[in-house]
Amino acid sequence: MNTDPQTAGPPVALVTGGLRGIGRAIVDRLHAQGFVGAVVDLADTEAGTTGGRLPDGFRYYTLDIARVEDHEAAVERIVADFGRIDTLVNNAGIAVRPPTDILDVAPADFDRSLSVNLRGTFFLTQAVARHMICRSSPHYRSIVSINSMASHIASFDRAQYAISKAAIGKMTQLYAARLAGDGIHVHEVKPGFIRTPMTAGAATRIDDIVREAVPQQRWGTPEDVAQAVVTLATGGLPYTTGESVWVAGGVTIPQVR
Ligand code: NAI
Repeated sequence: MNTDPQTAGPPVALVTGGLRGIGRAIVDRLHAQGFVGAVVDLADTEAGTTGGRLPDGFRYYTLDIARVEDHEAAVERIVADFGRIDTLVNNAGIAVRPPTDILDVAPADFDRSLSVNLRGTFFLTQAVARHMICRSSPHYRSIVSINSMASHIASFDRAQYAISKAAIGKMTQLYAARLAGDGIHVHEVKPGFIRTPMTAGAATRIDDIVREAVPQQRWGTPEDVAQAVVTLATGGLPYTTGESVWVAGGVTIPQVR
């Protein structure tokens, strides 16, 4: 394995759910920082994207991260195509539609949220981490998961989403502790209200919440989140692992007005 940064090629990223929204902004910013890599998402082809053609150096692979049995083959293909993976961004996630009172949540809906947001994320991280620790790399190595403000507050009409995201916090700490000795940094980013296709249906309600409860008085953009992710993925906080970075306009500040 070539570990000379001059000749080993650019850093390689794998971004889940990278065809639109926050994931797509992450791909674009990684590209701007010189990364190449893989985008996995649900569409049959990259033409399913709403974010336009992927930037040069990024290749699309169809993978439903809930299908854990498909992870190993997908990761092997990506490693065969790019040589290794330096950065995993666990961005793919699903919201609760329609919002449902915690007293009415059906087991199948609970399972669906956990199977994508938690189980799929946990096992894909495991599959990628196994590859990472077997290969040396000249590049900074990291795993960054997109958590949510939902893990912090109690919206009882989105219980399964909140529970799945809360567990990502513990997953982040566990992988961070396990992989620190291998030089792999593991973090989570917690976005607040970000304007994406996921939040489009609730835009009017969120406008009101943003006015009332977000000190910076605006929605976040996918680029705001991407900037935090790429700061972490490029080693901007080198003596830090297992941490949460909020990208939420100050919404965590307790306020009495
Ligand atoms: P989005 O719905 O606009 O995009 C999500 C992408 O993930 C889509 O391309 C979708 O096809 C893909 N995806 C969904 N399930 C998948 C699966 N099983 N396998 C592979 N790909 C899958 O969502 P958005 O807003 O960009 O969210 C991205 C992440 O950020 C999610 O994890 C979400 O929970 C989180 N988040 C979003 C916030 C927001 O306000 N938009 C706030 C806090 C967290």
